[in-house]
Amino acid sequence: MTILVTGGAGFIGSNFVLDWLAITDETVVNLDKLTYAGNVHNLAALANDPRHVLMQGDIGDSELVSALLAKHQPRAVLNFAAESHVDRSILGPGTFVQTNIVGTFQLIEQARAYWVRQDTAARAAFRFLHVSTDEVYGSLAGNDPAFTETHRYEPNSPYSASKAASDHLVRAYHHTYGLPVLTTNCSNNYGPLHFPEKLIPLMIVNAQAGKPLPVYGDGQQIRDWLYVKDHCSAIRTVLQGGRLGETYNIGGWNEKPNLDIVHTVCDLLDELKPRADRQTYRNQIAYVTDRPGHDRRYAIDARKIERELGWKPAETFESGIRKTVQWYLDNPQWVEQVQSGSYREWVATQYAQV
Ligand code: NAD
Ligand code: TYD
Repeated sequence: MTILVTGGAGFIGSNFVLDWLAITDETVVNLDKLTYAGNVHNLAALANDPRHVLMQGDIGDSELVSALLAKHQPRAVLNFAAESHVDRSILGPGTFVQTNIVGTFQLIEQARAYWVRQDTAARAAFRFLHVSTDEVYGSLAGNDPAFTETHRYEPNSPYSASKAASDHLVRAYHHTYGLPVLTTNCSNNYGPLHFPEKLIPLMIVNAQAGKPLPVYGDGQQIRDWLYVKDHCSAIRTVLQGGRLGETYNIGGWNEKPNLDIVHTVCDLLDELKPRADRQTYRNQIAYVTDRPGHDRRYAIDARKIERELGWKPAETFESGIRKTVQWYLDNPQWVEQVQSGSYREWVATQYAQV
């Protein structure tokens, strides 16, 4: 059997593919455009593995998607591919609309065309699993209850608006055409292979390079952090047992203000790789201008997936963040590889003030 994964060279997708092939022998066809965020080095361990077929291409390329589906006959499509960084969506929303909305439309349209041609048993077994985010629900105030699956969609950034639009398309394909879809809305992930433009890897990489640690605004914005391997196990669980047409929220029950996260990273680095001058990495923290429209708080109520499918996160934040910091310390070549010219241009534009 075979599954088609899109965006499987990115942070979560590559963790998913690596875990999948460590657990099963089911072939993965991996369609990835290899944008700045997609990195073949993430999949180096699979270089000679015949169970992994990497295809460079766009989810919006209907001909390519149609040919891949016809050739490999997957039993499921898992859509991780997206433009995923809020700050980039503020500077250039166009690619977010293109990939996240138009691309998802082209992909699901090809999936539908493929699905209708299957025999009855294959049609019943087929799944289109769409990987989405808690950011579609907007921002919570301090005492609001966490997001449930019925929370109203109130996306605030071009990124979250584009993900919200894609979620609606996926929902509509189930409602209108009966396509067997599943949607997951997950909180902030962290872990190995995380591109160093997002908060946690940026702090680890900048700290070691002796650079400022840019904290937006007052640093009291709250995110609900989940170790990436737990997200991957949740997706496998939903793929296997999720009810068709349903959405499942995935979260870590782990809300923390950004400044606490940055302090934790600094303290771990102080312990694991102290600065030459024995000063704390906390001295490198620099408060910078806030992100426009910055969502104050996200929090996921993950009771539905636990109740219906028995999934819970396995990693605590303390163990997960320690593993993560250690992974970056052990993999300086990976960090060097992903810090290409385009990465340096992004850092120069976004952090011009620090
Ligand atoms: P990422 O930016 O690290 O990786 C995205 C991958 O998609 C890259 O490999 C990129 O090359 C590929 N891609 C981009 N445009 C493409 C296109 N048009 N066609 C084919 N491939 C394309 O993102 P991530 O953090 O791994 O996120 C994966 C998915 O999970 C996204 O859909 C994101 O919205 C969702 N998500 C992320 C988080 C998080 O904390 N990172 C949380 C919840 C949900
Ligand atoms: P990020 O990792 O970009 O994820 P998201 O915006 O999707 O939640 O950011 C996490 C939080 O950290 C968010 O509140 C913005 C903040 N942040 C900083 O304070 N400094 C930074 O340099 C970055 C990248 C993010």
